[in-house]
Amino acid sequence: MKYLVTGGAGFIGSNFLVKYVSERPNDHFFCIDKLSYASNLESLSPVADLPNYQFARLNLVDFDATTQLVKEYAPDVIIHFAAESHVDRSISGPAEFIQSNIVGTFNLLEAAKQTGISKFHHVSTDEVYGSLGEEGLFVETTPYDPSSPYSASKAASDHLVRAYNRTYKLPVTITNCSNNYGPRQFPEKLIPLMILNCLEGKPLPIYGQGLNTRDWLYVDDHNSAIMAVVDRGREGETYNIGGNAEQKNIDVVKTICRLMGEETGKGDLSHLMTYVADRPGHDWRYAIDASKLRDELGWEPTETFDTGIRKTIRWYLENDAWVADVKSGDYQKWLDTNYAGRN
Ligand code: NAD
Ligand code: TYD
Repeated sequence: MKYLVTGGAGFIGSNFLVKYVSERPNDHFFCIDKLSYASNLESLSPVADLPNYQFARLNLVDFDATTQLVKEYAPDVIIHFAAESHVDRSISGPAEFIQSNIVGTFNLLEAAKQTGISKFHHVSTDEVYGSLGEEGLFVETTPYDPSSPYSASKAASDHLVRAYNRTYKLPVTITNCSNNYGPRQFPEKLIPLMILNCLEGKPLPIYGQGLNTRDWLYVDDHNSAIMAVVDRGREGETYNIGGNAEQKNIDVVKTICRLMGEETGKGDLSHLMTYVADRPGHDWRYAIDASKLRDELGWEPTETFDTGIRKTIRWYLENDAWVADVKSGDYQKWLDTNYAGRN
């Protein structure tokens, strides 16, 4: 089996490749990625030299290059992770989200339509469903109601993927997953940002009152769900993925403060918590009903939030070269612009 994996140098895609390139030596994996600020080729070093792995730098916004690569590689399966992924960046600069997430997906679908692929799997987010109040869960039939330029661009890409199935019979599947955390996540997202700020004794910026809720899933559990859908999911279907691990942001940050204190011997670090101006259009709560995936494909998450967060913290503490590499780019500039004047 030949897999074309887009966005494989980012957080979720690199964890996917590190796991499956080694676990499936008889399959071949071709990773394409534009290598944005959020990617790190160092994340792929565990598989970089394996004979069933190949990498090419490619921006999906380039229609001709995308078509040519798909034609030449002739994959059996495309797994489409590539996207601009950070809500705050989509608020300050939405244009790149429209290009990569909508135009990029369109170009890949067009290329896939011209080849005889057996599956196009689109990796999406629960944020397309908008915001929940205190009660209820997102199901696969929840109407789309995105709030941010990021989630609106992902919603548009989901619609395109579904349309290519209905119109052109492209064999697609879609997954909509809750918030991920784990190794190799760029430290602009809540969990790695808080871990690294704890390490440096910097303020931990909490938006609003910290009462917004997210449903956290360890990245390897997300990837095992994706592989289950790629292997056995029904064509044209959507599957929600979630960890049954709802937490208010404030509780996530308090747990990180306690565990970082334990792991580094610095004692509880919650004195670093700082309340800052809220995110515009901030969705209140996300929570997933993943029973379709469980009932049809037998998928269950293996990590609880307690086990996953400890693993994640240890990974960041043990991989200081990866962290130093990430922070050497324009990371500091992003922190300065996103958090300046928020207090
Ligand atoms: P990420 O930002 O860490 O990685 C995305 C990767 O895609 C980067 O390496 C980037 O260079 C690449 N990319 C972006 N635009 C591209 C383009 N035009 N051409 C080629 N490559 C491009 O994001 P992530 O957290 O790994 O997310 C991966 C996918 O999972 C995204 O589609 C995202 O919407 C989805 N998702 C993420 C989460 C989460 O919590 N992180 C949850 C649910 C779904
Ligand atoms: P984030 O990791 O950006 O994921 P998403 O917006 O896709 O859910 O944010 C998770 C939650 O944490 C969200 O409610 C916003 C909040 N947050 C903060 O309170 N402070 C921060 O510095 C960041 C980045 C996020």
